[in-house]
Amino acid sequence: MTHDDDVHPAWLPDAALAPLRTRPCTVLGSGPCARTARAELGPQVPLDRATLVVATAAEPALPGLPPIPAGGYALVRDGERLLVIGDDEACALRGVYALARDLAVQALTGNEPPLTVHAPGQPLRMLDHWDNIDVHPVMGQVERGYSGGSIFYADGQVRADLGRVRDYARLLAATGINAVAINNVNVHAREARLLTDGLDDVARIAAEFRDHGIRTFLSVSFAAPVLLGGADTADPLDPAVADWWRTATDRVYAAIPDFGGYLVKADSEGQPGPFAYGRSHADGANLLAAALRPHGGTVLWRAFVYDHRQDWRDRSTDRARAAHDHFAPLDGDFAENVVLQVKHGPMDFQVREPLSSVLAAMPHTRLAIELQVTQEYTGQQRHLCYLAPAWREYLRHPLDGTHPVADTVAGVTGVSNVGDDPFWTGHPLAQANLYAFGRLAWDSTLTPERILDEWIALTFAGAGADGLRRIAAALHTMLDDSWRRYEGYTAPLGVGFMVRPGTHGHPDVDGYEYTPWGTYHFADRDGIGVDRTRSTGTGYTGQYPSPWREIYESVDTCPDELLLFFHHVPYQHVLHSGSTVIQHIYDSRADAVEQLDGVEVAWDSLRDLVGTDLPAAVDHRVRERLAEQRRSAIEWRDQIRSYFLRKSGVPDRTGRPIY
Ligand code: GCU
Repeated sequence: MTHDDDVHPAWLPDAALAPLRTRPCTVLGSGPCARTARAELGPQVPLDRATLVVATAAEPALPGLPPIPAGGYALVRDGERLLVIGDDEACALRGVYALARDLAVQALTGNEPPLTVHAPGQPLRMLDHWDNIDVHPVMGQVERGYSGGSIFYADGQVRADLGRVRDYARLLAATGINAVAINNVNVHAREARLLTDGLDDVARIAAEFRDHGIRTFLSVSFAAPVLLGGADTADPLDPAVADWWRTATDRVYAAIPDFGGYLVKADSEGQPGPFAYGRSHADGANLLAAALRPHGGTVLWRAFVYDHRQDWRDRSTDRARAAHDHFAPLDGDFAENVVLQVKHGPMDFQVREPLSSVLAAMPHTRLAIELQVTQEYTGQQRHLCYLAPAWREYLRHPLDGTHPVADTVAGVTGVSNVGDDPFWTGHPLAQANLYAFGRLAWDSTLTPERILDEWIALTFAGAGADGLRRIAAALHTMLDDSWRRYEGYTAPLGVGFMVRPGTHGHPDVDGYEYTPWGTYHFADRDGIGVDRTRSTGTGYTGQYPSPWREIYESVDTCPDELLLFFHHVPYQHVLHSGSTVIQHIYDSRADAVEQLDGVEVAWDSLRDLVGTDLPAAVDHRVRERLAEQRRSAIEWRDQIRSYFLRKSGVPDRTGRPIY
């Protein structure tokens, strides 16, 4: 199915579908997803001769089917026949990929496919693309993209050949994703016009996604009535503005009847928003919601609102508080078809942050948790950093004191890590993050190890049994702990940043310290960390419900990994681990880099499989990235260790080299 031989098939190589394609099969149904399922499974036979049947629960030719939960599918044995039954045709297509996955896993682990009913944990499972049509002078074509250019746009327009988009839609469908926003939340002038004169092209993209059960969304500029409509205001309470949005939205639906809706970054990092008119974010979101509502569309309104021009001298302003301060008072004011999209942490996708308190503060608002699949602050797809362990921790965290976050939100969204790179994700092993995102959005109880097994079993489905097992063993060694390893040699104990402003890809301990961005570590000769307590600091701990407000408030109960996020402590402060803060900083940086030896040895152990079970191009790219990871990790280690020796004057007890 992959349209270009130079493009890596990711987790859907032909070998992954082969066990299904050998079965006489019937796909019932006439919609786009049924057609896609037929194309996947090959020549059809009459129903009475089929041993693989794909249908919806409402199929009259198959009476007595089990009830299927909304958005779900069931894999059912019926005598000699295997039935894949979906709540609708899109769900049935997901069921086909799920069966392929379970059979691939069986080849790796020996476990029989669980023939059972599957229901999504979230109705909305969405990827956001930060793609621009034009190549932006500073950010490139894909903002925070580390995988080449855009799969959607080239040469200043939507691509004529959408073959990669089709392949991408297929990959996403196999993970359970059902929504995609196709342009950057920072909406520049050219991209703003997708909403109006770009609609034919958006419709072409939407058709590729529709065939895979995925709805298309656009990022829109809140100032669109001014930018595109020539109005002199975008005031959300102005009836002419509401009219403009209604008309524009009606046109969108005339072109794309199943259009998903709008994604909006407003009053954030220079994007226009309702504040310019003295209106609230509920006024802003509800304006768009009203235009979308007759068509069944949704507004995803981002809560990433803070002052990016703060005075670093002002110790009372705390960026961590901003989203809560802006949005929590609006709980209950948003229209029903608004989903407030909240970054998982209160700052900005750092390798370690507490969960955003907003996720527990708005029980009367539909929320989505926003994750970052693209590795802006987690190694930029040059470092290995398998993020499933982090995401699972966030999704299962009982933030309201009782329920896992995944059970309280209406959606999980992620910033995509995909570009036009032949491996999709720059680092071939970063594909595991994209796969894991879809799977955890579907089912947050899956373990990271299980998801990695699935990804390996599918991606290397063409390998022999022994080769597959060896590849799996090596990849678990490389990836299982890679998130904590990355944390180990970068910013310590939840303090965050310490990156070069702009690129965010290189160590620079004081890079943000005296800037307006609100991201500080406050290291001096005596100590480090941000005091966010109620008693002596910014009070951010007070925005959490119990028990977290108490747990984070006290250095005695605050988890080590978040200590410097919530507290300013002396270097000699003793952690729960028994080490001091300064010795922890020294040790973790050095230990984490030493662990890279094991990572490289694991990959080297597969050398004899290259060219057979392991494609040479994958090996080549992984080696190149591992070398760069080592170089960069050493830089992180040495800069951070040296910085803190110079700041504190406290020597490293182990005597390891320091500069
Ligand atoms: C980060 C990132 C920006 C992005 C922003 C957002 O700050 O560096 O490039 O625009 O997040 O999420 O809107």
